Amino acid sequence: MSTSSSASAPREQWQSQMGFILAAVGSAIGLGNIWRFPGVAYTNGGGAFLIPYLVALLTAGVVYLLFDWALGHRYRGSAPAIFRRIHPRFEPLGWFQVGICFAIITYYAVIVAWSVRYIGFSMSRAWGDDPAGFFTGDFLRLIPSADAHITGSPVPGVFWPLVAVWAFVTLIMALGVAGGLEKMNKIFLPTLLVMFVGMVVRAVTLPGAVQGLNSFFTPDWSALTDPQVWVQAYAQIFFSLSVMFGIMVTYASYLPRRANLAPTSFVVAFSNSSFELLAGIGVFSTLGFMAARQGIAVSELEGITGPILSFVTFPQVISLMPGGQLFGVLFFGSLSLAGITSLVSLIQVVTAAVQEKFDTGRTASSVAVGLVAALASTWLYSTSNGLNMLDVVDNYVNNIGVVASAIVTVVLVVLVARRLPELHHHINDHSAQGVGKWWPLFAAVITPIVLAVMLALTILELLQKGYGDYPSWFNNAFGWGSLGTLILGSIIFSLIPWRSSVDHFRPAELAGMDPHPYEHHQNPDALTATAPQETR
Ligand code: ALA
Repeated sequence: MSTSSSASAPREQWQSQMGFILAAVGSAIGLGNIWRFPGVAYTNGGGAFLIPYLVALLTAGVVYLLFDWALGHRYRGSAPAIFRRIHPRFEPLGWFQVGICFAIITYYAVIVAWSVRYIGFSMSRAWGDDPAGFFTGDFLRLIPSADAHITGSPVPGVFWPLVAVWAFVTLIMALGVAGGLEKMNKIFLPTLLVMFVGMVVRAVTLPGAVQGLNSFFTPDWSALTDPQVWVQAYAQIFFSLSVMFGIMVTYASYLPRRANLAPTSFVVAFSNSSFELLAGIGVFSTLGFMAARQGIAVSELEGITGPILSFVTFPQVISLMPGGQLFGVLFFGSLSLAGITSLVSLIQVVTAAVQEKFDTGRTASSVAVGLVAALASTWLYSTSNGLNMLDVVDNYVNNIGVVASAIVTVVLVVLVARRLPELHHHINDHSAQGVGKWWPLFAAVITPIVLAVMLALTILELLQKGYGDYPSWFNNAFGWGSLGTLILGSIIFSLIPWRSSVDHFRPAELAGMDPHPYEHHQNPDALTATAPQETR
């Protein structure tokens, strides 16, 4: 495949079903699994969290993974092209998803850069006897969150690894879907698995590991009555499985016509959750060891969530244990590999949209997206205010942006355009074993209601209490401000004319189904927008 092919050339494709599965699993397994899940599970009921988590996996994870894949495989385009093909007025939803991915890549790359840097730090245990002071002081030169402000000068220790990460992922993107993303996942994913399993095996054999595992798996049943715990479970599943914000739609658009959607969705969803569980086991065994060394209970340990868990608590353990350097290389190496395979899937959402909207070649769109994102990423997050900014943007974009994107997608595609029977039919036409009536029931009724309640609760809480101990102007500017910018940006991008023939598309006919039963009661814009045969 030529890397400079323009958008009017034949659409790129995964070279094999296995290549697609690896890329989808690579996208799903990311920072969300290793640094987010263990802390979220622990603070939301420990073992009891596994119940809402499993419910969310089955009622939202698998359901919307299939929803995304059906949309992508059937409408074969970037997110804005797909939603536009369903109805021209839906295009902003596609750009909103592109915007979410753009916002995420700008900070996700930063965490990957920290991880890469910490592989080196692990070898020399560069943090000495004060990993916390080293991380926030020497390394990030962080401003305290209560004084968070805008600052423009990059911190060199973060800036250069970040530039290296952007250079690497831009190269992968330019090499294309099969030549770059698929090949990279084929190498990185097995390597990640070997490294991570090595790390977990070492962790569970540490003295104190059993106490750690007990504290992770001991259920706090009362947590199940707390709506926030359910909110966290659903939010974790959406982020972790990469569903409903553009990624899986885009990845599925590169599948060949012959595909096996339903069984594959279970493989991807369960691989991701198994890895997540493995991460919980590895992290809590390690924490058990640390608590035992300090003669305290695991519950008395501090820094069990977020960046502190990975970049302060783990370095402490690495210093304490024999053979800690290797353990550190395995841990931070895993974090880097998992992060990179997810990062490229997020970037692909943006690159595909730019490539199709402006009819540019693969190389040009990859370099353009890489440059703009790298500039935003370094300017916003490699500074001494980076971690504060990252924390706020991540919270608002994930907990509100991603969930809102899921709800709006269901409302538009299912309620307004009435495409659910068509998508259901498409899944069953492209699956060795199809899905029954439970799928539309959860996709269109039960889960959207849960999501709407969850979104309302999250918004209410943020409006009442703000987020963290950041000044309210900071939360308003970078939290609500990011969401406002995403909405505005999606409208502006939708108004720009397409340079490729996006509307010359008609989805393939489905066996035994009128392909366009809905056209009779649809806006006439959509009818004039379709051409008689499928293109690209
Ligand atoms: N699914 C990716 C993660 O878990 C985005 O980090």
